[in-house]
Amino acid sequence: MDLFEYQARDLFAKHDVPVLAGEVIDTPEAARAATERLGGKSVVKAQVKVGGRGKAGGVKLAATPDEAVARATDILGMDIKGHTVHKVMIAETAPEIVEEYYVSYLLDRTNRTFLAMASVQGGVEIEVVAEENPEALAKVPVNANEGVSIEKAREIVAQAKFPADVAEQVAEILVTLWDTFVKEDALLVEVNPLAKVADGRVIALDGKVSLDENAEFRQPEHEALVDHDSANPLEAAAKAKNLNYVKLDGEVGIIGNGAGLVMSTLDVVAYAGENHGGVKPANFLDIGGGASAAVMANGLEIILGDPDVKSVFVNVFGGITACDEVANGIVQALQLLADKGEEVTKPLVVRLDGNNAELGRKILSDANHPLVQRVDTMDGAADKAAELAAAK
Ligand SMILES: Nc1ncnc2c1ncn2[C@@H]1O[C@H](COP(=O)(O)OP(=O)(O)OP(=O)(O)O)[C@@H](O)[C@H]1O
Ligand SMILES: [Mg+2]
Repeated sequence: MDLFEYQARDLFAKHDVPVLAGEVIDTPEAARAATERLGGKSVVKAQVKVGGRGKAGGVKLAATPDEAVARATDILGMDIKGHTVHKVMIAETAPEIVEEYYVSYLLDRTNRTFLAMASVQGGVEIEVVAEENPEALAKVPVNANEGVSIEKAREIVAQAKFPADVAEQVAEILVTLWDTFVKEDALLVEVNPLAKVADGRVIALDGKVSLDENAEFRQPEHEALVDHDSANPLEAAAKAKNLNYVKLDGEVGIIGNGAGLVMSTLDVVAYAGENHGGVKPANFLDIGGGASAAVMANGLEIILGDPDVKSVFVNVFGGITACDEVANGIVQALQLLADKGEEVTKPLVVRLDGNNAELGRKILSDANHPLVQRVDTMDGAADKAAELAAAK
């Protein structure tokens, strides 16, 4: 889960990474009081989960409370790379910025370790530095068991060639930033710019944090950081029902058991769709093993509730899950939805194979639901589902 800058700022503050004061607001008028609390001037910063806000006009200085209201008026509602600005942060104005650096920690999946990155050429997009001037970006692996002690932090600082006058301050910040990374179960913490200001202090002026959702169970406070306003409503509904669902932009709804099977189902449907006007999968949905009628009903409800969906492909390979249970699940799910008054009008193509497939197929045949078609091969079923979606 990616956080907004103001949320990253709050986590940094909690772990003693030096930041400036700031508060988040969602109406222009609120910018006045917030700026007054900061002594009469502020920086108005768009809160969107995308980079390049400054360049897009989403970061503006305000010399007075009135100006802050005017800038907040400009920025709220602005579109930055397809993200609408719903909130702005009113931040304390930094003393004159002398230098801008870059520091981050991230999970380096390729090398199966954590990685510290640091550069004295911060403030700009780090991808550009990495591309044009790779030796200016120090990359130092961090052992998960050892973490970042002050000695390790000094090693990172030395590799990135920080100036002597800020070296110790930056090393201390790297230790607190590591604390943030570990204690918050983050996958990424990034400070850009880490600024040296006129009074000699080094301060995190902008932060990016991505949290590991797999650690939710031990991070109860992270629930409050979820951005419910911008969440896709279908994804939010699926999450509430504990379903592994990702919305995609095609027309064929997909339900399968097991992430691998669902992934290959997406491929097969996209391929089949090429022969039917280019229809594509509308979602990823893995109902997992042992799918009960209730789970099937929840899944179908989400998928059928997607206005983009024109047909549904249920692709199940029975392993631990027996196909007869799945077939019963489908029949009961359609009944459950009908009982709830949610009439199903979209065609379903069902392919059952593996454990108890014969029995499962028989259950579907006996139920003889007008919208359910059985196709017994994966390719054939994908083709049928794509054809039905294209015909709608
Ligand atoms: N509180 C502040 N006081 C003074 N100047 C600031 C402050 N915050 C940001 N700036 C200046 O504005 C520039 C851009 O700010 P920031 O890094 O937050 O946005 P950005 O880089 O455009 O956004 P993103 O990181 O999303 O690409 C900074 O490099 C810094 O020079
Ligand atoms: Mg930035």
